[in-house]
Amino acid sequence: MRTYVVTGSASGIGAATAELLRERGHKVISVDLRNAEVNADLSTAAGRASAIADTLLASAGKIDAVIAAAGVSAPKAFTVAVNFFGVTSFLEGLLPALSASSAPRVAVVSSMASLQANSEALVEALMSGDETEALRIGGELEAAGPRAGYLNYPSSKRAISRWVRRECITEAWAGAGIPLNAVAPGTVITNMTRELLATEEGRKMADDNVPMPLNYHSEAVVIARMLAWLTSEENTHVTGQTIYIDGGADATLRGDDI
Ligand code: NAI
Repeated sequence: MRTYVVTGSASGIGAATAELLRERGHKVISVDLRNAEVNADLSTAAGRASAIADTLLASAGKIDAVIAAAGVSAPKAFTVAVNFFGVTSFLEGLLPALSASSAPRVAVVSSMASLQANSEALVEALMSGDETEALRIGGELEAAGPRAGYLNYPSSKRAISRWVRRECITEAWAGAGIPLNAVAPGTVITNMTRELLATEEGRKMADDNVPMPLNYHSEAVVIARMLAWLTSEENTHVTGQTIYIDGGADATLRGDDI
């Protein structure tokens, strides 16, 4: 039995992952805004600090794996606070407890949106760890209307995939024996997409952006299975990757351009 920490555990991909891991006999420390063992708001520094402290307490100082699935897709600046700093700061705070495991693993949830048009200035601010500047740029985009505001989402996901790639080979991660990966789902049927997928117009928008010729939209458990493998003891050498679980969307959109 391993001890897992799963953020975003109250809904969608996080909930499916927590359920799958529990079914397989693991202990899961759930983290979410509400309805979790650790209730905290990962959009603020204070919320992250309390999430880290409560998670360390619940784990008694040893964590085998963390799966960071909490996220939002609102066309607003706080999207980058949750999707980027709510992941990176939280993970960094748990590194000491991960080091206590004999097989520590981490996986985060990026998105196919990481490949979409984004704000390079915002991605740069995120990569430099400057949350004040990132929120300033994100706020400007938000104020310019929903189309510009949406850039907060792909920018947060581009940055988190890039962060995984940069960090995975450092002393803190590879040096500590911790594989660090991302998954990038296509369109998954969860609370995040339910409204969009309820109308023909919304489905068309989703399918134009993320065409899925293999098996179409997925259930959350499909993503959970890959997250479970990436964070299992079996994964000793996969690191720094963003694994697209997208029914062929990446192959359709990028073709030979890999
Ligand atoms: P969801 O809306 O069903 O679940 C997200 C969970 O994150 C919720 O339980 C929510 O309370 C939690 N959360 C949001 N803000 C939080 C905060 N400030 N602090 C703590 N918890 C917070 O969404 P879903 O679809 O399960 O999304 C999970 C991840 O998958 C997200 O990172 C999302 O960007 C990503 N994703 C989802 C796709 C989809 O089609 N549903 C596609 C690609 C990526």
